[in-house]
Amino acid sequence: MAVILVTGAKGQLGNEIKISSKNYFGYEFIFTDIDTLDITDGRKVRKFISSNFCDWIINCSAYNFVDKAETDYDKAIQINGFAIKNLVDAIKGTDSRLIHFSTDYVFDGNANVPYNEKSPANPLSAYGKSKLEGEKYALQHSASMIIRTSWLYSQFGNNFVKSILNKGKVNEPLNVVFDQTGTPTYAADLADAVLLIISKVVRNQIAFNAGLYHYSNEGVCSWYDFATEIIQESGLKCRINPILSKDFPSAAKRPVYSVLDKSKIKENYGIEIPHWRSSLKRCMKLLKGTT
Ligand SMILES: NC(=O)c1ccc[n+]([C@@H]2O[C@H](COP(=O)([O-])OP(=O)(O)OC[C@H]3O[C@@H](n4cnc5c(N)ncnc54)[C@H](OP(=O)(O)O)[C@@H]3O)[C@@H](O)[C@H]2O)c1
Repeated sequence: MAVILVTGAKGQLGNEIKISSKNYFGYEFIFTDIDTLDITDGRKVRKFISSNFCDWIINCSAYNFVDKAETDYDKAIQINGFAIKNLVDAIKGTDSRLIHFSTDYVFDGNANVPYNEKSPANPLSAYGKSKLEGEKYALQHSASMIIRTSWLYSQFGNNFVKSILNKGKVNEPLNVVFDQTGTPTYAADLADAVLLIISKVVRNQIAFNAGLYHYSNEGVCSWYDFATEIIQESGLKCRINPILSKDFPSAAKRPVYSVLDKSKIKENYGIEIPHWRSSLKRCMKLLKGTT
């Protein structure tokens, strides 16, 4: 029986993995979060992993406060960077595989074609830098898969979809930037993809190929397009104004273009990825009545 440890399991992705795990029999899942396994505590991580042998670790823990990270880099690098070293050190010399997540914000946005795994990273923000450090630590383990994702949302936690729905209910015009282009990712799709990959490897249907990967939903949009679709889908009547990033000042600089090329994960692991519009519809159905 494969044992799968999920850290940061109370976050968006962790919760979606919990749901998806119900489709996988014959696997033992151990779900932890900061209250049960603080991954910044190297000693505790080593102790936990030595007494709970894990074939797979799916690290969903993260510090995702993009603007706050500009003034709180110490905390960001502890969780997004040094804690990954703790995980890697704890599984050094074992066959355990690590699946870790990173971000499109490792890119500077100067491209005009989708970023692939060989594109040079050049983060503009402290958050992006802390996540890039985490990637480097993860790559020190030969059996690590790092999946960069973008614009993550789900029925859980705080995210752009919920924030637009809540603001939309006030029925005042909303200003949303239209000069940042990327792709939303429904965390439920990513969770399903990760467990499908693990199950294919466990059943020897496919070889495990470590390294960097990109995963978002299919398609491309601006935050303005995304917000417009959320409001349309919700039936709310709120008006949305497209604005430029320069008119929406924020502490952290974000890439103007961060579309991810997902060819590698699709080809290596036979993954089919839904379009962001159809995934948004599925999430909105779940959210109806809860926001
Ligand atoms: N959210 C996005 O838009 C986005 C975009 C691109 C990439 N990603 C990446 O995708 C992955 C999943 O993101 P997500 O949105 O699911 O994250 P999330 O909802 O913020 O969840 C992260 C979880 O990690 C926990 N955590 C924080 N510090 C911890 C520690 N020291 N030890 C153990 N757990 C800790 C958090 O607990 P607390 O809530 O108590 O802090 C939270 O439950 C992350 O690697 C993230 O960087 C996210």
